[in-house]
Amino acid sequence: MKTPLSSELAPSTTTDPVELYNGAPPSFGHAMHKLFEFDPSYVNLNHGSYGSLPMPVRVACDKLSARIEANPDRFLRIECIHHWNEARARVAKLIGAETDECVLVNNTSHGVNTVLRNFDWNEGDIIIGTTTTYGAVSRAIRYLGDSPPHPQVSTFDLKFPISHAEILENWRKHVRQVTSEGGDLKQTRKVVAVIDAIVSNPGVRLPWKEMVAICKDAGVWSVVDAAHAIGQEVDINLSEAKPDFWISNCHKWLFAKRGCAVLYVPRRNHHVVKSPIPTPHNYHSPQDEHYDGPQDFVRLFEWTGTMDYVPSLSINAALDFRQWLGGEHKINGYTHNLAIAGGKHLATLLGTSVMDPEGGLTLNMVNVELPIPGDIKYSDEINSLLLNTLLVERNTYAAHYYHNGKWWTRCSAQVWNEISDFEVLADALKDACQKVVKFAKK
Ligand SMILES: Cc1ncc(COP(=O)(O)O)c(C=O)c1O
Repeated sequence: MKTPLSSELAPSTTTDPVELYNGAPPSFGHAMHKLFEFDPSYVNLNHGSYGSLPMPVRVACDKLSARIEANPDRFLRIECIHHWNEARARVAKLIGAETDECVLVNNTSHGVNTVLRNFDWNEGDIIIGTTTTYGAVSRAIRYLGDSPPHPQVSTFDLKFPISHAEILENWRKHVRQVTSEGGDLKQTRKVVAVIDAIVSNPGVRLPWKEMVAICKDAGVWSVVDAAHAIGQEVDINLSEAKPDFWISNCHKWLFAKRGCAVLYVPRRNHHVVKSPIPTPHNYHSPQDEHYDGPQDFVRLFEWTGTMDYVPSLSINAALDFRQWLGGEHKINGYTHNLAIAGGKHLATLLGTSVMDPEGGLTLNMVNVELPIPGDIKYSDEINSLLLNTLLVERNTYAAHYYHNGKWWTRCSAQVWNEISDFEVLADALKDACQKVVKFAKK
């Protein structure tokens, strides 16, 4: 199938966000396609991986780029900081944080690395990850364990499906066990836990606030990988939940341009983050002659090397767009209900089941078992076969993965999706899964 060039796509009726926002938004479902710029024949049920840029936000980004190029010095030396501070203030309000506890970084990997590499690691310190920690984050933990002074890595086992109550019971035990070991070191060593707000694969919600509270009671630092949270989880209140660090991608569910993320560090922990990665002009060494006390956390992150600031600044346009659509509750009401209904429908069509029939683990991503026997294990060839069949031959996609002895798909429900999209995906998945089974029998 030929993929149309963007110039061949139907032109939008209006591309000026200001003009557009004077009217009512289209209703959720396929009418929303006029606000996104997908190939018209692509059925996209995988917003979760890389996000999707709404056309009005893209137009705002293009305008910003043109403004930057018109006079790079004026923009970068004078104007940029105002937009950046506005984005921080608006995002902070959305997540129940103080503006000066939030800075913008390139992506969640960057934010998590910034936090973990800023701890002063000592012999005997421990980093807790889980078996479902995102690949790159789990590798960052591993890397720290491999580097002097070699903090130990402890892995909490998570196999889904499992209820929040069971997760919490097991987490409490794990944290208790980790913190009770270590003899004399116990008094001085630190334990840092990396907790997902929403796991990547499977796409499930964790009881992260309660997990953070358990850490707090045990004197364990909490670093929340909330890559999928902002724009998907409503009513986040970090001042109440009190994680020690929290990082969320704004280019996923918030609709900002790839890549930007918010790094939340409450005031009490500003001293931990001594340098962004890379170290900026604004870094002050305590050894410097004119050192004037602890650094200003926000100032450190204002300029961390030359880069394109459009993604970070696009948070403002993304928030305008979401407000115009009706706000967080309206958007996520539609996408959550569709995830639940679509998942059930897909499972019926595939003759399998959803991972989470009660819905307690599901926000906007629903996990459905694939009709591939569990004894066929993950391999690069099978991965390529699934990707090619779905993305190249059938022009549709939802993430696929192997977990706990079974094959699954993770479907992201977004404002442009309707139940019929799950039918298109079901046909493509049946084809792809048959090919996998045939390939594995060879
Ligand atoms: C849970 C989780 N953490 C971290 C990441 C990394 O995000 P990025 O590649 O934007 O750094 C992802 C990406 O999907 C994720 O799902």
